[in-house]
Amino acid sequence: MSAERARVTVFDTTLRDGEQSPGCSMNKQEKLRLAQQLDRLGVDVIEAGFPIASEGDFEGVRAIAALVQRPAIAGLARACRLDIERAWEALKDAAHPRIHVFLATSDIHLQYKLRITRDQCVAQARDAVRLARSLCDDVEFSPEDATRTDPDFLYRVSEAVIEAGATTLNIPDTVGYTVPVEFGNLIRTLRERVKGIEKVTISAHCHNDLGMAVANALAAVEAGARQVECTINGIGERAGNASLEEIVMAMRTRPDRYPYETGVVSEQIFAASQMLSEITGVAVQPNKAIIGRNAFAHEAGIHQDGMLKNPLTYEIMTPRSVGVPDSKLVLGKHSGRHALGIRCEQLGYQFDRRALDDVYRRFVRLADKIKHVEDHHLLELIRDTHKPAASATPLIEPPPAAKAADAHSLTVSVPEPEPQKPFPVAPATNPFGAPLPAHADPHQEQTQQEDYLWGV
Ligand code: KIV
Ligand code: ZN
Repeated sequence: MSAERARVTVFDTTLRDGEQSPGCSMNKQEKLRLAQQLDRLGVDVIEAGFPIASEGDFEGVRAIAALVQRPAIAGLARACRLDIERAWEALKDAAHPRIHVFLATSDIHLQYKLRITRDQCVAQARDAVRLARSLCDDVEFSPEDATRTDPDFLYRVSEAVIEAGATTLNIPDTVGYTVPVEFGNLIRTLRERVKGIEKVTISAHCHNDLGMAVANALAAVEAGARQVECTINGIGERAGNASLEEIVMAMRTRPDRYPYETGVVSEQIFAASQMLSEITGVAVQPNKAIIGRNAFAHEAGIHQDGMLKNPLTYEIMTPRSVGVPDSKLVLGKHSGRHALGIRCEQLGYQFDRRALDDVYRRFVRLADKIKHVEDHHLLELIRDTHKPAASATPLIEPPPAAKAADAHSLTVSVPEPEPQKPFPVAPATNPFGAPLPAHADPHQEQTQQEDYLWGV
């Protein structure tokens, strides 16, 4: 059965697009921790950051590239020499590096943001991909704002970058504007009209401004895309990106409609989600599909009755299948170390003997005061016992993967912001070193290229 299913590459951009969303920035240690969890989760590609954006981003990408060996590690770059070389510098020690180059292609962006013509856009995209390919075998190109780009022009840019050596063509719905039927048709027409398209993997990168990111990504897959770009908890610019857990579980729960495979170990989803909330301090909405606190809660009497008779009555997937621990084990003052250890493991923490003793002592004191020690009490207690000491050898192996289901009740430490280096100043040339036309104002040109750094 599984041999018949097409394999879809899962490209996780939690550490890049996700990290760009308000309140979600992470420091290097936090990114490393999350990257290791993404590795356990089984994603194929980790987009680790935007190396030109800051020294902190650069160091984060470099550290992940050096440490995380199984998945491909991608770094984002605008279509210019400075960005691409910086991305490569950060990625070059990776076992599987990928440079991800993007350039906007819609008339709105060309006219108002980049102030370049369509011809200049094609040339810049092609040159950028060529340069990236001279450094790295794995190059992804994204025509930013693809869904608001004139389709004929999108085909033209796509052909140019494929000819220049792109290996993945990512189609971003940058502003979350498209709808499933339309997006599916766009992918289909790209496959029909673009010369050389069979040489690349087509990818979908969907934003959630109209709440359709996951539906759009799935429509793209049905139309032939074989990579989806997504984030844990759906974090990302504005309304966020397509959520990894929703895409993966839609495929797993409805193989009749979505006969595709991913490498994701779905039992690691909850731990990844909790870790992200813990690191960023951004709670998951309670009714969020798959990983929200209420996703497997049954309150109504009729539902509870059905659940007791047979969980299939109201559950289309088991909590266990996404790593939500069974809450059948009630922890109170009579519970022993062993039960406590098991519960901690289910919540993503593995302690050595001494560390477990520490947690146990505190647990007993707490259990004396309150009847039942719930997961969120336990997680709070664990974090109190083992306040992160970045320099010390972690007592916890692998790194903590969970936080209370009720994130509001927890104390979360806010990382010190990393100092941001000013954006490097480029010489008075176009992004590839060619002199600017005589009439061009080099300052203005540079400002335009810089201005869109934060708008991705
Ligand atoms: O949304 C977007 O267009 C992006 C690109 C860089 C892929 O994030
Ligand atoms: Zn995006």
